[in-house]
Parts: sequence; structure tokens; C-alpha cells
Amino acid sequence: MVKVIICYILVFIIAWAGIWFTLIMLWPVFTRDKRAPYVPSFNYHLNLMKKGLKLRKWAKIIDLGCGDGKALRFFSKNFGLKGEGYDINPVALQYGRFLNRYHKEKHVKLIKSNFEKADLKNYNYIYTYLFPNQLTDIEKWVFSKITNKAIVISNSFQFAKHKPFQTIKNHRGKDSIFLYKK
Ligand SMILES: C[S@@+](CC[C@H](N)C(=O)[O-])C[C@H]1O[C@@H](n2cnc3c(N)ncnc32)[C@H](O)[C@@H]1O
Repeated sequence: MVKVIICYILVFIIAWAGIWFTLIMLWPVFTRDKRAPYVPSFNYHLNLMKKGLKLRKWAKIIDLGCGDGKALRFFSKNFGLKGEGYDINPVALQYGRFLNRYHKEKHVKLIKSNFEKADLKNYNYIYTYLFPNQLTDIEKWVFSKITNKAIVISNSFQFAKHKPFQTIKNHRGKDSIFLYKK
């Protein structure tokens, strides 16, 4: 009898996790949104940044399209940064807030809003993990709003017009993380 109950509970948990995962991944399809879908930064890229970046403790970072806040928790844990993330996907944000509580993460705030409403002059670092077409769309806005000292960290993809002042290469020697200034 106990085994049957445990089986029911396990099936319930797996089904519940499956529904959440499907909702999170398919949110842009349901809403017919052509912006970058919710795909959290891969650990591989986070490890490249862990080895290759030198960031100032307690500085402020914004993630433009933060998803569940995975990248912000990484920056908080490994560099002591204070993070704010903007995203329009409510399911990813809700999941991220749950993960923040689970990891007792106090320095990461997740905000439900179009990131273009954020005031970029308030941040020392701007993090993006967005497709090139979206980077091109926001390039003018980003570089006109950041301060002279701010650094933009783009995971995997490059802006069209600006040239990075530094890159971090992957294990095959290919540029993977791009750092920009105004
Ligand atoms: C590839 S995911 C990146 C997730 C997160 N930055 C990370 O690295 O783990 C891109 C996210 O950007 C969000 N997004 C795209 N355009 C947006 C916009 N204009 N305002 C807010 N969020 C946006 C999507 O909802 C998606 O969750």
C-alpha cells in the first residue's frame, strides 16, 4: 500500500514538473512572441565567464531578458554582484523566484517587464543572452543609455555595429563571450 502511494506521489510530481517545463518553454509560442525564447545560460558558458571575467564586488548587474534568473544567481554567487533581471515570461519568472527562495538568494530581484523600460544608467554591468536579431534591435538603445564605465557582457552573440574590447574563447578557440563599452 505504501509503495502504491509513493508511486502516485512520484507520478504526480513528474507530471507537475512536465507541465511547468512545457509551459515555460512554449510560452513564446502561446503568446506568438518572436523575441528570444526562454533558454537559461548554459553552465558551459557560465564556467567560461567564471574563469575569464574580473568583476567588481557589490556592483550592480542587469540581465536583459533574465528568464529564471540563472545567470544573475551565478553572478551573485561567484562575483558578489547585486542583480536585477527583467523578463516578460511570467512562468519563467515565477520559477526563478521559487529558485531564489530555494537557494536563499537575497541579491537577485526578478521584475516582470519589458527590459526596454529599465534605466540602464543605474547598472555597472549589463548582461545579455539574446539572439543577434534582437541584439541589433536594442543596440542603439543599450549603447546610448549605459554610462561610460559600464560593461556589456553578451553571451554567445555579438552586436552588429559595436566591436568588443575583450572576448572569452571557448575550448575550441572560438569567441564565445563578448565584452563591450560605450
Ligand atoms: C535566451 S533567454 C535568456 C535567459 C537568461 N538571460 C539567462 O541567461 O539565463 C532570453 C529571455 O529574454 C526574454 N525577453 C526577450 N525579449 C524581452 C523583452 N523585450 N523584455 C523582457 N524580456 C525579454 C525572453 O522571455 C527569455 O526569457
